[in-house]
Amino acid sequence: MSQTPVTRQEGREKDDPYELDTPIPVPVLVVAAAMVAFGMSYILVSSPDQRAELGDQRTLADLAGAPGGKQGAAKADGAAIFAARCAACHQANGQGLPGVFPPLAGSEWVNGKPELLASILLHGVQGRITVKGTAYDGVMPAFRDQLDDDAIAAVASYARSQWGNTAPVIAAGTVGSARAQSASRSAPWKGDAELAALR
Ligand code: HEC
Repeated sequence: MSQTPVTRQEGREKDDPYELDTPIPVPVLVVAAAMVAFGMSYILVSSPDQRAELGDQRTLADLAGAPGGKQGAAKADGAAIFAARCAACHQANGQGLPGVFPPLAGSEWVNGKPELLASILLHGVQGRITVKGTAYDGVMPAFRDQLDDDAIAAVASYARSQWGNTAPVIAAGTVGSARAQSASRSAPWKGDAELAALR
């Protein structure tokens, strides 16, 4: 590649770079081929969809519903209804917000007569209500149009079993009779004043 120098200056210059004809060393090729072979055989041999610790952990039994439950029938899930409809105000821990939303934990209304709690959930409350010795004056929405008897019974039973509450569950029939008894009602309960009569 070098040319015969013509002048002294040319003679001092380095040769131009040029490309060598050096093949990839065999050991490198062997390692690369081994890695490709390993990768392909790993994909073929391992079956990721059979690894129980990866991905969706639910079994067919979970998707079919709890054993003993009616097949396909959607059973109202009190915890889910609470999270969707109540927790924004009464908080996930049932403690409410001091001065604004009354607690459900330890509440005499939640743990009292089943018909009383059902009536509160059906029609809501507006006006001064005393919970655990503290007065609240806010607006509790009515759920008679949003939730059916099953759903109200489920969320009421959930509230009666959480956060230290141990009151017995409420049957959908109890909600149904409370609904029938107060069918003519369209306004929320006016707090203590009206609800005391139901206690
Ligand atoms: C928009 C906020 C809000 C939502 C949503 C809400 N509540 Fe209330 N709730 C209140 C307020 C405010 C009061 C007090 C009403 C008053 O001061 O007159 C109350 C009162 C109550 C009471 C009687 C007092 C007590 O603390 O025991 C119960 C029981 C109750 N709510 C249960 C529920 C349940 C169950 C749900 C969901 C199905 C729910 N609430 C959804 C705001 C809410």
